[in-house]
Amino acid sequence: MTHAPDGGSLIPTGSGVIDAEHGAILDLLSAMTAGGPVGKAELAALRHEVAEHFATETAEMAVLAVERRERHELAHRNYLASIDALLAIAERGDPVTGDDANRLMLWFIVHSNTADTELVEAARRAGDEPPMISMDDWLDSLDEADRDVLRS
Ligand SMILES: [Fe+2]
Ligand SMILES: [Fe+2]
Repeated sequence: MTHAPDGGSLIPTGSGVIDAEHGAILDLLSAMTAGGPVGKAELAALRHEVAEHFATETAEMAVLAVERRERHELAHRNYLASIDALLAIAERGDPVTGDDANRLMLWFIVHSNTADTELVEAARRAGDEPPMISMDDWLDSLDEADRDVLRS
């Protein structure tokens, strides 16, 4: 049996928006892994919440190198595909197990604590970069004679 605690617990990334969304998703997953129902309604609610959350993260991904962004986006697509596969099982009327819910929880915690923490850290570092110093502004501050020499 897959136990979610093997992946540890959810660590705050430092982004208020992302952490609030993670909390809401974790609530849904916790209800499922605590023995609650894992049916169509629960999985559809999870999928909705997760898709909205991934859109939030995608908007932040411009700060990542292309290769890391693609890897993160692929991980998101794979997770949505996993939820869709379980949703299809539930829609057929077949049982979705507690192990399935535990695996969804485990992935979510590990992904949040690794890829998402990296994303938030990259966004923070990008915000820390010094402002670009405009050469034109600097030249404007010089005497006219110096300015003409430097601009020529
Ligand atoms: Fe996330
Ligand atoms: Fe993510």
